[in-house]
Formats: sequence, C-alpha cells, structure tokens
Amino acid sequence: MTPEKCYQQCIHADCRATFGVDQVLVACPRCGDLLDVVYDWSKVAVPAKLAVFAARWASRDNPLDFSGVWRFRELLDFCDDRHRVTLGEGQTLLQRNDRLAPYVGVKPGGLYLQYEGLNPSGSFKDNGMAAAFSHARMVGATRVACASTGNTSASLALYAAHCGTRAVVFVGSGRIAFGKLAQALEYGARTLQIAGDFDACMRRVKEATARCGLYLVNSVNPFRLEGQKTIMYRVLEGLGWQVPDWVVAPGGNLGNSSAFGKAFAELKELGLIDRVPRLAVINATGADTLDRLVNEKKLTWNGGHYDRQAIADDWAWQDATGRRPHTIASAIEIARPVNAAKCLRALAVCDGVVRSVSDADILNARAQVGRCGLGCEPASAASVAGAKLLVAQGVIDPAARVVCVLTGHPLKDPDAAVGYHTGQYPKGKEVPGERLYANMPIPVADDIDAICAAVEREA
Ligand code: F0G
Repeated sequence: MTPEKCYQQCIHADCRATFGVDQVLVACPRCGDLLDVVYDWSKVAVPAKLAVFAARWASRDNPLDFSGVWRFRELLDFCDDRHRVTLGEGQTLLQRNDRLAPYVGVKPGGLYLQYEGLNPSGSFKDNGMAAAFSHARMVGATRVACASTGNTSASLALYAAHCGTRAVVFVGSGRIAFGKLAQALEYGARTLQIAGDFDACMRRVKEATARCGLYLVNSVNPFRLEGQKTIMYRVLEGLGWQVPDWVVAPGGNLGNSSAFGKAFAELKELGLIDRVPRLAVINATGADTLDRLVNEKKLTWNGGHYDRQAIADDWAWQDATGRRPHTIASAIEIARPVNAAKCLRALAVCDGVVRSVSDADILNARAQVGRCGLGCEPASAASVAGAKLLVAQGVIDPAARVVCVLTGHPLKDPDAAVGYHTGQYPKGKEVPGERLYANMPIPVADDIDAICAAVEREA
C-alpha cells in the first residue's frame, strides 16, 4: 500500500492495485476496472463531529467555507487549498414537502426533496465538477472533455469557462435537452454532436482522451465522485445529522448512487454516523440496464468479487439484439452505465433496491413536484415516481423518512414540460400514457369580458 494519506485504488477485490493521486487515470492500468479515491483516515484531520462542517457557514466570506462541497473538505482531502476550484456550488435545499407526501404515499413529515437544481449550472453535476476541476488544476491539465446527456456538458463548460480551461464536449446528436445544449454553447465549449447516442459518445470520448491527451471528467474520473459525496453530507446536515430511512435517486451512468454509497460507508467507518440509510436507484423502463442486472440476473457486489463477465455479456446481448435506450428522461437515456460495478457496491453498503418507472409515471411525478412548489427536470422525477412505486409495493414503509434527490432544474428541459401540458411534444418525443396533471394554456380573445370570464371559470 502507498504510504500517502490518499491514493487511487482499483475497486476489484482480485486486483486492488494502488496509484498516486497525481496520476491521471480513468481505469485501472493493470486490470481495466474502475478506480476509487481512498484515504488513510489516520492521516486526515477529520473533525470529531459533523456539526463542525455546518459551523463553517458562519465564515462564508471564505469561498471554501461558502462552497457546499469544500465545506466538507476533510472528507475529500485529495488536494491542497490552492488547487480547490469553486463556483459556489452546493447551496442546495433539503425541503420537507408535506404536499407531495400523499402523492408518494408517505405520511406528512416523512418526505424530503434534496433539490440540486440550485447549483450554478442547474444540476448536481457541479458538486462533482468542483472536485474534478480541482484535480485537473493539481495535475496541470489544460484541456478537459466529457461525453454527456447534457448536464455534465453544461457543468463542465461552466467550470472550464471559470478556470480558463479549454473544453470539449461530446453529445448525442438531437439527444440532449435544449436548456443543456444552450449552456454548453453559451459557456464556449467546443461541442461535438456525435451521430450516435450517449453510449457511443462515451466510447468515443475515451478513445479521443487517450489519443489527444484530454482530461476526462465523466464519472469514471474518481475525483469527480468525491465531490458528489457531499450531496449526502448536506442531506444529513438538513436533517440535523440524522440518517434518513431511504435515499431515492435516479440512475443513469450511476455516478451519483455510487458516490452516495461511498459517502455513507466512509462516514460509518469514521464513526460519524451509526447506521446507513437504504438506497433506491430508479431507472426509466426504456433504459433499465441496472434493473435487469440486479433483479433478473441477480448480480451483486459479492465483496468486490462481482461478476465482470455478466456485465460484458449484457453489453454483448444489447449489441446482438440491437437494443437501444429510449426515454423522455433524456438525462438517464443510458444503456451501458459506466459505474455499474460501483453502484453494486453502493447497493450492498445500503441494502439497496433497483426499480424502473415508465415515462408517463416520470412526467406525472414531475408535474406533481412542480405543483407542490419545487420543480425539476424529467430524469429527476424518476426518484419521486420510484418512491411512489416502492411505497405501493410495500418496500418503503409509509411511516419512513424518505429523501428523493431532485438532480436538475425544471428549465433544463422546457420541451418536455410544454409537451406534457399541451400534448404537443417535439417530433419523436411523444409520450404514451395519461397526462394526469396537464395544465393547458387557455386561448382567449383580446377582449376584457372574455378575459374575465376565463379568469373566473371553474377549473
Ligand atoms: N439526473 C440528471 C438530471 C442527470 O443529468 C443525470 C445524469 C442523472 C440524473 C443520472 O445520474 O449518471 O449519476 O446515475 N446525467 C449525465 C450527463 C449522464 O451526461 O449529464 P448518474
């Protein structure tokens, strides 16, 4: 083992090779598996109580104390202060929402929404980007890249613009929501629209990274996931450092769920929490690879000896059958989640479950989130639709304390919202199923009597 306080390590129990944090790696050079950032906690000055992190808010004129990521810096202590990049990310909200609780089926007081749409680029990705850009600065990277369903590209483009780093993003042609594409273009990233889906972009960006010497910030970058751990620290903070019964998150490339599992495992190891919550990861039915791997193929973490071949076989089966992902929740339209193995570990740590929800359920849940006073993009609402399903299935107890993670801002995907409410989706995006909470705009003549009649009319 490396004597450093922090190093990179292969996650597979048969390998466990270690590498310094000064190396730029997106896979284990020895066996090709994913890498973790690992700490020797005896060499890190971790505060004895979580409340110390919250107290830093009082000195928020220090940008590192203001950041909802770096406020927790001892728990992701892989670089020095001079490398740490921040744009004020992580000023997010844990909202108890008693109006949405009956929709989900939990008792009032039991439902909480962790709203990550409040981040500088409007999604949870900024938590990870602050950490990845800090590592990029530490190793002197000058060009950064990612493949994306939209939010990663928006976040990368913003942080690159802030740091003066050149950015290249790979997006599937016609596959990303307009709000996200607008951000990538506006922040000046070189935006390559690849004639393919997200999985094709992911494969190509890895090749291009190796060939052109780019710094990759997709969630195969272990430093990015360190930043995303802080979402769970803030959930705990919002609950007065109490552990919820359930955390429910949408599953796409599975970086978030992986980071959440790591966060809870480390806090438990450090004795800062006495139990971990259960984790539910929610796929869309049109992009349900994790659901298949876990519930049909019974794949488990198996103490780190997980079955790599089973995942490779599933990818090959997708190729052989021409299976392609398709969901209105474009952010999670992913069939080959790169963090599948780390997510298996998170499910093991948190006694997790995986479910899939339909596009209609996602959009109806999203409309409810909006009506209950918050709002989110379609993929985010998979968490709410998934929690509702799990209560109906008797998996989540109605008396439980449940946190649904709302990963992105509603304005990320205005087409999906307007399509839902008016029934006029952009071509290729029609969603079957009932639009239970559609709020149709009302055409009215430019006439005061007609206008007042429309104002007064019963809904
Ligand atoms: N929600 C939103 C709004 C997302 O943008 C993503 C992923 C997810 C959920 C899924 O999170 O990948 O950690 O399981 N978006 C990526 C992107 C893939 O490129 O923006 P995950």
